[in-house]
Amino acid sequence: MTRPAVRSRASNLPVDVTSFVDRRSELAELRRLLSATRMVTLTGPGGIGKTRLALRAAASVRRTFPDGVWLVDLASLDNGSLLAETVANTLGIRHHATEAPFDVLSERLAGQHLLLVLDSCEHLVDAAATLAATLLPAAPKLWILATSREPLHVGGEHVLTVPPLSVPEPDQPVDAVASFHAVDLFAQRASAVVTDFAVTRDNAGTIAEICRRLDGLPLAIELAAVQLRALSVEQLLERVEHRLQLPVTGRRAAPPRQRTLRALLSWSFDLCSPAEQDLWARLSVFSGGLDLAAAEDVCSGGGIARDAVAGLLVNLVDKSILAREEHAHRVWYRLPELVREYGRERLAGPAEDRVLRRHRDYYRRLAEQAEAEWFGPHQVEWWGRLRRELPNLRTALAFSRTCRSEALAGLRIAAALRIYWITTGILSEGRRWLDGLLALAPDPTPERAKALWVNCWLACLQSDMATAIPLHDAARRLATELDDPSGLAYTARLAGLIAIFRGDLGEATARFEEALARHRATGDPIGVVHAIARLASIAIFRGEHDRAVALCEESLAMSDARGERWYRSYTLWIMGIALWRRGETTRATTAEQTGLRLKLLFADMLGAGNCTEALAWIAASEGDWKRAATLLGAVQCIWRATGLSLYAYLRGFHDACAEDARAHLGDRAYEAAFSSGLRFTPEAAIAYALGEDSAGTPPAPREEATPLTPRERQVAELVAQGLSNRDIAAQLVISQRTAETHVEHILNKLGFTSRVQVAGWLTQSRGAPG
Ligand SMILES: Nc1ncnc2c1ncn2[C@@H]1O[C@H](COP(=O)(O)OP(=O)(O)OP(=O)(O)O)[C@@H](O)[C@H]1O
Ligand SMILES: [Mg+2]
Repeated sequence: MTRPAVRSRASNLPVDVTSFVDRRSELAELRRLLSATRMVTLTGPGGIGKTRLALRAAASVRRTFPDGVWLVDLASLDNGSLLAETVANTLGIRHHATEAPFDVLSERLAGQHLLLVLDSCEHLVDAAATLAATLLPAAPKLWILATSREPLHVGGEHVLTVPPLSVPEPDQPVDAVASFHAVDLFAQRASAVVTDFAVTRDNAGTIAEICRRLDGLPLAIELAAVQLRALSVEQLLERVEHRLQLPVTGRRAAPPRQRTLRALLSWSFDLCSPAEQDLWARLSVFSGGLDLAAAEDVCSGGGIARDAVAGLLVNLVDKSILAREEHAHRVWYRLPELVREYGRERLAGPAEDRVLRRHRDYYRRLAEQAEAEWFGPHQVEWWGRLRRELPNLRTALAFSRTCRSEALAGLRIAAALRIYWITTGILSEGRRWLDGLLALAPDPTPERAKALWVNCWLACLQSDMATAIPLHDAARRLATELDDPSGLAYTARLAGLIAIFRGDLGEATARFEEALARHRATGDPIGVVHAIARLASIAIFRGEHDRAVALCEESLAMSDARGERWYRSYTLWIMGIALWRRGETTRATTAEQTGLRLKLLFADMLGAGNCTEALAWIAASEGDWKRAATLLGAVQCIWRATGLSLYAYLRGFHDACAEDARAHLGDRAYEAAFSSGLRFTPEAAIAYALGEDSAGTPPAPREEATPLTPRERQVAELVAQGLSNRDIAAQLVISQRTAETHVEHILNKLGFTSRVQVAGWLTQSRGAPG
């Protein structure tokens, strides 16, 4: 099996789909600003080129940021309260606990040297300002580059107003015209529709006039240039002049450039056939883009035949109304934000509600299909598809929350997406949708019954038992009342999880056995596999290793028969541990490494950390103490980058491994090996765990290896001097509780269990270069 690509820490910047016209002086200015300050906002009217400029600048400074350059596109995010989660999600930071996403982000970014590009903040100005104001002081090596039609007004913000592209003055000699950037863009877009198009002495004056009339606005120039398909440049100029003289509907007081753009948009709209206009308007309900199937389903009817949609989409691409992209061999259409806004205005009225409902129904079916097919051969595709469709799924959920009569459909979406909330770790968001929708739909319906157990499950995964227990009781009651076999099976399993939290293994086993029987009876493979995983884990704890292995084998056979890989990887992890306990280290290693490779298909860093940890225990059993210590450091590096941690119930194996490795290697050698693992990037850590690093030696450490915030570093210094928490509190004039929390964070971040280790680490890190 070839090693699947691990998402690079480098960046998630998209590749350019159209050519870029020089913005040399703005780029230079932007780079200068970024070297002097950590918060820059690019402002300017819609369509002026803020996003393109930001992406260019970000790409050009990429090497300066060892932890990457990360684009977060906020255009499709309606809800400012999801901002922190969206950023965390983009960065691959997960939080399974119930802590506030802001705190998680602040803490995780504290030691990271990265650039965050927040694109399209104008509709979330307050949320974006709060985010910046919270993160920048907490993360001394974090840079933020925002684009927004208005400034964020946050302390330390430097605003760079993006100017229009340069246009020639009326008296400019024709020879010089082509060197102006607006003309250059016009010519580039024109030659895409008229192959032999060129700026000549004959047409230069007219083109210069068109660009002047369009105020050098890139989007307006693009919309106009495509008209050359049907018009000569002279005709184009005439029409541009004519359009600009027409009164612009709505927003009468709009500033001149906005008026220019609206004139162009309404012109483009008028040039569309009635069917294209309808499609444009209906497409505006999508967020973040769409594929053909979605357009056909949501936008057909009422004058648009289903099989005409594909052709109409192509027409809209030709008219520069839609952008066409390709992801994993599927075509994806995107509406530029202003084009979408214009379409939405045209959709207003009862039609808007109708299309939004069709959109919601489509995404309900999509979510339910994903759930139904999840345990099967197309799982990885589904995972990618749900990721890409998240903005649309959110729009569908938001629509469902607008009134009681829509809430049941919303509950079905939020519950079906459990596979997504859990595999991506965005549990808090899932819970928030479920909470809101459950409140709107109090009647005893099957939708409510399922949503209750899903919500309980997510709460359990966040160890929020205070919420999980009453949710479980309500779910159980309703499942009994409705005589819902699936609900009874899931609530039995959740009762098992709750029993584990209470420390009652006997009760937990009984409940998992009950769940297993019930899931078998309903023929629910996901339920069966989950119940088996729990029973196998308990068997390991009871020393019943043969039973654990047999259970895992049964589960693997089910996964293999259906060609699914998510649960297979999870089971392999548990089976590896059982095999290791049975003394079969070679088989155990194979199980863990195979599981780890599968985890990468889903960017599952929690699973990757777990397998890496198990590999450390196995290495220790084989007497390879240095590898064991290095792997323990490597796991810590994965936890640090993702905000995750080892399940508490496995802590005993971890501690024993660390102690044994230290005893055999001695403190110095142990610390050295551990630190070398800690300095990996997560990708290098995984490569090392898989034995795929070139010479079997740890790859070069990262330059920036200090995971502590400045305050934690200060506390660490005092810990190293042997001060107690009380003394530290007194010295720093903080409460003893705060001092304790700092020390706890320091130990967790560094993966240490004792204060002495902190002293050793400080000595090492002082000596480290950089
Ligand atoms: N320098 C450039 N070279 C080529 N094309 C450009 C350039 N600047 C902008 N464009 C094009 O103009 C259009 C608008 O640009 P962009 O999306 O960056 O504007 P924006 O200011 O971010 O708008 P909004 O406020 O709506 O987000 C896009 O189609 C983009 O490709
Ligand atoms: Mg933009």
